[in-house]
Amino acid sequence: MFNSNFFKNNRERLAALLPNSLICIPAHVSLQESADLPYKFRQDSNFWYLTGLNAPDAILIIDTSKNSSTLLLPEQNEYQKEWDGAQSHADFKKISGIGTYGAVSELSNFVKEAEKKNLAICHLAPLPERVEPYGFYANPARKMLEAKLRELVSSPDEIIDVRKELGRLRQVKQNVEIQAIQRAIDITADTLEEVKAKLGDFNNEKEVENAITAGFFSRNSQGHAYEPIIAGGKNASIIHYNSNSEALIGDELLLLDVGAKVNGYAADISRTWTIGKPTQRQQDLYKAVLELQDFAMNQLKPGIKLRDYQEKTENEAKRIFKKLGVNIDRYPHGFSHFLGLDVHDAGLYDEPLVENSVLTVEPGIYLPDEGIGIRIEDNVVITKNGIKNLSESIPKLL
Ligand code: GLY
Ligand code: MN
Ligand code: MN
Repeated sequence: MFNSNFFKNNRERLAALLPNSLICIPAHVSLQESADLPYKFRQDSNFWYLTGLNAPDAILIIDTSKNSSTLLLPEQNEYQKEWDGAQSHADFKKISGIGTYGAVSELSNFVKEAEKKNLAICHLAPLPERVEPYGFYANPARKMLEAKLRELVSSPDEIIDVRKELGRLRQVKQNVEIQAIQRAIDITADTLEEVKAKLGDFNNEKEVENAITAGFFSRNSQGHAYEPIIAGGKNASIIHYNSNSEALIGDELLLLDVGAKVNGYAADISRTWTIGKPTQRQQDLYKAVLELQDFAMNQLKPGIKLRDYQEKTENEAKRIFKKLGVNIDRYPHGFSHFLGLDVHDAGLYDEPLVENSVLTVEPGIYLPDEGIGIRIEDNVVITKNGIKNLSESIPKLL
């Protein structure tokens, strides 16, 4: 599915946008989870898109003046070779199509050589060390590479940020990527169908999560694409609730926001179900969210700007929910985000939409005082005139 041609082609398409450049793209670094053990390694999606490799601490170098790629690898010590396995250039080449290897310590040679040839030095600008408003720390790989490059180049302020070029490439999905997303959605669909059929058997959010995890793995996915949200009653009004640990109560709603991962690509699906018989209020609010989702989907097509779409959909949300006695002054989240290797994927959010972008459409309503949270989320691809709903097969019944 994803062979070395895919990664080689991605490198070439990026190089074509940046002639006479030395592009330096870092892999994520490995991070400590506890004592002498690291977190399960998660590669940087940009690095994976260009190499297909899960090696930590590496740097991809593309010299676009001669269309050549080199992979700089960290020196492995004896402990790492014994405990993690020795790296093999032959294996890396098979996956990535990259034939030239060096050590990370050789970065300075590449930069010096590039400066002699007057190549522009390009990288991905780092996020701040602590990323607000999310309240977490960024993987330090980009910041470390930026610091090294700034030491090495003669004009540090002329280092070029290529997030936009790479973001556009990643936003527009190739067939093989859409197939992977579709497979992730289909596995999510089958798992949700299986879990819904035995909903009455579950006493706790965690039991539902466990059934979904088992369903994802038994269908040969890589498991969850992101932390699953299994939220009963009032928990569903916490947008990214994920402790998934409370008892399920008969007359409450249950919000599930889950997605399988296939070949690194994510599905991102939300459905809201009733555990018992829905009240009139629950039904009315649910119907309103469905109506809002139709409104949103009908706007999506090439040429529209997501900012305008957000504003229009927000106004419609205010109008629809007002009829049900709910006044919204600020809608708490976007109605859509790009979807791909990252659940909140790279793409140009400020530019008009283009064909083959994959997006979520995810309106919701969150009323903690009433113990109600509802979200309905589908995944769509932008076509010539509108959208194709990739998750249309997943029922939207309360
Ligand atoms: N599942 C995370 C989101 O919908 O944004
Ligand atoms: Mn979601
Ligand atoms: Mn989403």
